[in-house]
Amino acid sequence: MEIEFHDRNREIHEIMRILNSRPDLITFVYGPINSGKSSVMDEAVNRLSNDYVVFFIDLRAHVVTNIDEFYDVLFSYEIGLKKKVAKFSDVISSLLSSTVRFYSGFPLPENLVGKVLKKDKPKNAFTYIFNILQELKSRGKIPVIILDELQVIGDLKIDGLLTYELFNFFVTISKRFHLAHVFAITSDSLFIEKVFNEAVLHGRCRYFLVDDFDYDTTKEFLEKYGFNQKEIDLTWNYFGGKPVYLVEAINNRDRLREFCEENLKLRVSQTLDAIYEIEENEKLFNSVIDLLKNFIDNEKIRYKKIDEALRFCVRKNILFLEPVNRILKPQSQLDLLAIRKVLNEITS
Ligand SMILES: Nc1ncnc2c1ncn2[C@@H]1O[C@H](COP(=O)(O)OP(=O)(O)O)[C@@H](O)[C@H]1O
Ligand SMILES: [Mg+2]
Repeated sequence: MEIEFHDRNREIHEIMRILNSRPDLITFVYGPINSGKSSVMDEAVNRLSNDYVVFFIDLRAHVVTNIDEFYDVLFSYEIGLKKKVAKFSDVISSLLSSTVRFYSGFPLPENLVGKVLKKDKPKNAFTYIFNILQELKSRGKIPVIILDELQVIGDLKIDGLLTYELFNFFVTISKRFHLAHVFAITSDSLFIEKVFNEAVLHGRCRYFLVDDFDYDTTKEFLEKYGFNQKEIDLTWNYFGGKPVYLVEAINNRDRLREFCEENLKLRVSQTLDAIYEIEENEKLFNSVIDLLKNFIDNEKIRYKKIDEALRFCVRKNILFLEPVNRILKPQSQLDLLAIRKVLNEITS
């Protein structure tokens, strides 16, 4: 079944408000896995006028382990219908004339490749992008850069940490020169936590949480597809407002209970796998169990310290950490149920 984009009015309104003001702060869009972060950005971008030139760079499908791979996602050698770009002025004119708003990276003419893509000098690449943005701005356009799943570049080191260079560059183009709006999307809450404590970003970015739907939004969504109250309650009890599961639930409405139980069983098994992986490390194993025990009676807790157990649960996508409000909670309602079952099994 074709499922329509649902709601997110508040989020889209906020994104539009940001895009309608002068570029200034970097926006970090974060939230649990599959909460709808990429979808909401897509939707907002689709509503923009042609005054905006949007560079949507999706790192999700990429493994970035060296600078060449990073350049591969950041740049493209053709634009539109496989048209090669020969020189810088071609890049600008095609960006200006194009009505397509998504690019597979910044177009780079062949004659500049050697100069721009230096292995040990990411600064050259950033300077090139800076020039594109400046040129677009001077022609009355508003550039927008969206990097999805930014944490993929991890701890890559090139003449210092690449993330650090990248953050510096973002600060330069947004806060300092007001050239472009920058959005960085991530599902990795440890990455956000790192960003949160990154000195270069203090006072230079904002955090924008896109969480699962609340109950009313979930109910409204499911009602659009004919769910009755009983079906809504069942779906909510298993999946909360996690859009990806709601879509699946709609598609499995004729066998809803079975579908819910299947998914829970699967999540329990995955969680057990994750936890038994560290069985030999008795200290970590026990502290993970102790940490998870918090969720027998609570849906979320306020955390104190980010220790190894917490890190483990976040890395395994069992828990989601929300550094702005210091909240720790399961990645989804399904994870909450799975955690409780797993504890039952391990501690009985
Ligand atoms: N507002 C929405 N309305 C309908 N479906 C949605 C919505 N947001 C997300 N989804 C569904 O959930 C899936 C996961 O969302 P996505 O944006 O990829 O999550 P994230 O980027 O947070 O991991 C999407 O592919 C889509 O099927
Ligand atoms: Mg995404």
